[in-house]
Amino acid sequence: MDLGIAGRAALVTGGSRGIGRETARRFLEEGVRVMICGRDAQALERTRAELAQSAGGDIHALVADTMKEGDIVRLVDAAKDRFGKIDILVNNAGQMYSGRFAAMTDTGLKEQFETKIFGFLRAIRLVYPMMKAQRWGRIVNLIGGAGKEPDPYMFGSGITNSGLLNITKSLSTEFGEDNVLVNAVCPGWVDTSMWRRNAQGLAAELGAKSEEEARRLAARKNALNRFGKPEELANAIVFLCSERASYITGVSLNLDGGRLKSLW
Ligand SMILES: NC(=O)c1ccc[n+]([C@@H]2O[C@H](COP(=O)([O-])OP(=O)(O)OC[C@H]3O[C@@H](n4cnc5c(N)ncnc54)[C@H](OP(=O)(O)O)[C@@H]3O)[C@@H](O)[C@H]2O)c1
Repeated sequence: MDLGIAGRAALVTGGSRGIGRETARRFLEEGVRVMICGRDAQALERTRAELAQSAGGDIHALVADTMKEGDIVRLVDAAKDRFGKIDILVNNAGQMYSGRFAAMTDTGLKEQFETKIFGFLRAIRLVYPMMKAQRWGRIVNLIGGAGKEPDPYMFGSGITNSGLLNITKSLSTEFGEDNVLVNAVCPGWVDTSMWRRNAQGLAAELGAKSEEEARRLAARKNALNRFGKPEELANAIVFLCSERASYITGVSLNLDGGRLKSLW
């Protein structure tokens, strides 16, 4: 299927690895021009070079920390300068704040809010006027299942994820008349470095003797009985940003192999 977005310009925050990198790759394969960012300059440049070589097309990268308002301004300005416009924003940069209530700290929670609430909102605030003016825009927020189904081990992420679901729905309603579509995806466990950074904690939470056992136990909660691959997430994200998704707004798509058992 031709997704109808060749020539569009996309900003993918946090595209130096994981889901963001694979999303950037899929965009490039569709002829979309892409700007990615991350905090680790070397890793970012490695990814930019690898994407340019394997997928080709127009790929740029800028070191930026989405916890810092000034960095987001620089990032959006750089994408605008490079492409003359931004048609697509994928709010992806972020981490998982896991651990039960007793382990939560104000500092940790503030960081979670800075990346996943303020980081996402600030990027939207800067790109929306351009999308509104051209009466075409796509925004996809990377959220997570704990926003829909609270999990004590995912308490910190759950708080921001619920807020992001509200933000997605609210803005989809407000921006609809401008043909700016706002959607979300809710990943379950996806095989990225995020999982590996959380493996020990999850093993302790699940009473598993090893990270491999934790992985098996976590995967068993999914109907598909396995973790997701970043490229599987990317396929759905890019579709939501495409011309073919022109009548979809305000949805939060579970990309979790059937983990959540509720009706939404
Ligand atoms: N993987 C999962 O199981 C899972 C589950 C639920 C939700 N999610 C969500 O999906 C998104 C992507 O996750 P992932 O698994 O692909 O994670 P990942 O492999 O850790 O990659 C995260 C990317 O974001 C960048 N990043 C993180 N914080 C940043 C910041 N403050 N400013 C700029 N860039 C930043 C990282 O680069 P630097 O570190 O160099 O900055 C990296 O490129 C996240 O929002 C995450 O919360 C993932």
